[in-house]
Amino acid sequence: MSRAVITRARNPLQGKIVVPGDKSISHRRALLALWVDSDVRLAHFNSGADCACTLDCLERLGKTVRRQGDEIIISGAAECSRGSLNCGNSGTTARLLMGVLAGHEGRWTLTGDDSLSRRPMERVAEPLRRMGARIELTDGRLPARITGTRLRGIEYHALLPSAQVKSAVLLAALQADGVTRFREPVLTRDHTERLLGLARDADGWLALDPRVVRVNADSLSARIPGDPSSAAFYLAAALLVSDSAVSVDAVLTNPTRTAYVEVLRDAGAPLTMENQSECHREHSSDISIRYGSLRAFTIDHQRAAQCLDEIPALAVLATQASGTSEFCDLGELRVKESDRLELTARNLRRMGARVEQEGDRMTVKGNTALRGAEIETAVDHRLAMAFAMAGLVSEGRTVITQAESVAVSYPEFWSELSRIAPGSVTVEP
Ligand code: S3P
Repeated sequence: MSRAVITRARNPLQGKIVVPGDKSISHRRALLALWVDSDVRLAHFNSGADCACTLDCLERLGKTVRRQGDEIIISGAAECSRGSLNCGNSGTTARLLMGVLAGHEGRWTLTGDDSLSRRPMERVAEPLRRMGARIELTDGRLPARITGTRLRGIEYHALLPSAQVKSAVLLAALQADGVTRFREPVLTRDHTERLLGLARDADGWLALDPRVVRVNADSLSARIPGDPSSAAFYLAAALLVSDSAVSVDAVLTNPTRTAYVEVLRDAGAPLTMENQSECHREHSSDISIRYGSLRAFTIDHQRAAQCLDEIPALAVLATQASGTSEFCDLGELRVKESDRLELTARNLRRMGARVEQEGDRMTVKGNTALRGAEIETAVDHRLAMAFAMAGLVSEGRTVITQAESVAVSYPEFWSELSRIAPGSVTVEP
C-alpha cells in the first residue's frame, strides 16, 4: 500500500489540467454497446479501474474491446450466457449490470471487492424484481446471482435519489414487455435518459417504451467530456492556495452535475466557463478559477443529492470559508466506497477543523488553520483526493494512506497534482 505525503504549497497553483473522461458517461456508453453489434468508438474514455471493470465484464459477456490511440472500440455480439463477473470497487458497474442482466438470457454471478461487497444492493434488486427479475442477493449485498428472464414494464416511484437505481431500471426497461414509467424524488444525474432520448413529463415521470427507443453505434460513439467530479479537486485547490489560477479543459457541464460549481459560485468563487461544446446531448466547457475568499454555504436536500461525490472537497473548503457551513441530508454518503460522512468528519478533526456531525448532518466552522495529519482513507479515492487538497494549506505533513485508491477514477491524479503543485507531493511505495 502506497502513501502520499503532501506539504503546504509554496507557490500559487497555475496551469491547465485535463481530467479523465466522465466516469458515469463512460460506464453507460460502454454498457449500452451491448445493444449494438457494430463498432462503438469512445474517445477519452475514463482511465480508472472502475470503468476498466465495466470493460472486463463486457468482454466476459462476449464483446471485444480494443484500444486504438485515445479510443476504446467495443465490437461484436454479446454471446456468452453464464459465468462470474467481477465488478471490483465499482458500484456503477454492479448496479447497472443488474439491470442489464435481469433481462439478458443466461445465469450470472456478480461479485465485488470488500468495499463493494458491503454496499446495499436491495435498492436495485427490489424494482427489478417487480419487473419479474430473478435476482438473489447475499444479505442484501453482493454476490448477486441473476438469471435472465422475460421482464415486464412497471410504474416505479423511487423514494431514494439514486442515478444508479434509475439507470438499472431503465436498462431493464429496454428489454421489457410494455412501457416502464419511473419517477425520482430529486433529479439525479440524467446521462442514461439523455442517451436513450427520454424526456420527463410535467410531473417528472420518465417513460420508456422499448418499441420506440433505438440504441445505435452512431449515437453511442463520442468523445467523453472531462469528469466534473475529478475537476472538483483542482477547483478546490485553486480556492485554497493564495494567488492560484488554474483551468480545467472540456469539463462536462450537464446541469445535473454542476451543483458543486453553483455552490462555489454562490459562495463567491471567481469562476468562469468558456468554449462550450456539445456531443450527443451532453455539453462541456473549459472551467477557469482564481484564488478568492469564500463565504460559508449550505448544502440542502436537493444539492446534497446532486453533489454527493463532491461533499468531501466541499467540507475541506468549508474549513477556510468565512462563517459556518451546513450540510444536510448526507445519509447516502455513509454507503459510498466507505462511510464518507464519518471519515470526512473524523479526518477533518484530526487536522484541527471544527466539525460537528450528527445523524445525516454536518456543520463545519470556517477560518480555521489546518495542521497536517495522517488521513484514514479506507481505500476511498474521493477521500484521498479531497484530503490531499487540505494538505496543500496545512502546517506540516499530511499523509494520505492507501494513496493508490485514486486509480479507481483518476490514476494520473498524483502526477498531475505534483505538476501543478511542484514540491508539495511525494508518493511513497
Ligand atoms: C453514479 C451515481 C451516484 C454517484 C456515483 C456514480 C452513477 O451514486 O455517487 O459515484 O454513475 O450513476 P448513486 O446514484 O447511487 O447515488
